[in-house]
Amino acid sequence: MTVMSADMTTRPAGSGPGSSPAGAALPMIELTDVSRVYRLDGLVVTALAAVTLTVRAGEFVVVLGPSGSGKTTLLNLVGGLDVASGGEIRVGGRMVSGASRGALAEYRRHTTSFVFQTFNLFPGLTALENVEFAADASGRAAAATIARDRLAQVGLADRANHFPHQLSGGEQQRVAIARALATGNPVLLADEPTGELDFRTGVQVLELLRAQATADRAVLVVTHNREIARIADRVIELSSGAVVRDGPPAGGRADVADLHW
Ligand SMILES: Nc1ncnc2c1ncn2[C@@H]1O[C@H](COP(=O)(O)OP(=O)(O)O)[C@@H](O)[C@H]1O
Ligand SMILES: [Mg+2]
Repeated sequence: MTVMSADMTTRPAGSGPGSSPAGAALPMIELTDVSRVYRLDGLVVTALAAVTLTVRAGEFVVVLGPSGSGKTTLLNLVGGLDVASGGEIRVGGRMVSGASRGALAEYRRHTTSFVFQTFNLFPGLTALENVEFAADASGRAAAATIARDRLAQVGLADRANHFPHQLSGGEQQRVAIARALATGNPVLLADEPTGELDFRTGVQVLELLRAQATADRAVLVVTHNREIARIADRVIELSSGAVVRDGPPAGGRADVADLHW
């Protein structure tokens, strides 16, 4: 992970992800008593209430919950796109909650990457240019080479010069994953990433996302689809903004090939 601005609290050297001498995965994402309350026209909505959880490097975690349970709110807070009303958020040992706008911008560039349900590719850029843009924005040298490599990694080397509208939904989502990987950032966040896809392509995308949970990266996928949670290392279940369950999938972790929906 790249060094962030000085106003983000840092732990002592050697305590970042991947630096554990014992080889045990260190916490990548730590939420303590995190809440998010929206106030709109006198109406108070508690989207998240006292959420405490830890995600370690190498973990593939599914956040499961019905519509309105706070999944997107949670992801946006971890991604630095929104600010918590209370509690503490640490990512990679650095304090995200309470960070200045400038520090958050730096954090977003170097720490997290998003994959969205509706892909959100730039329509006027080719697949390669979309991926290169992300590598560039996160300040990586040789962005063009990284972009080609990441597109190849998701099996789309031969679609580099296609525009998004010339790609299937599954291909567009794979470009979006390549774009997220091109940043080199250690936290991959996906919000209902298979919601727009048919079952067969959805399964391919899930397989790809699960493969990204490597020693130096954590992957957090949010979904309302209980079936998807079966392939997680861990399932964190949300209900009305609170964690109601946190543990391995009931019945053990399934293979992507065993899913049906
Ligand atoms: N910007 C907002 N202003 C007011 N209420 C919001 C806002 N965003 C989300 N909410 C409310 O917060 C709750 C959680 O929303 P969300 O995190 O989008 O849930 P999910 O992603 O699980 O469907 C919902 O009740 C929703 O209406
Ligand atoms: Mg949502």
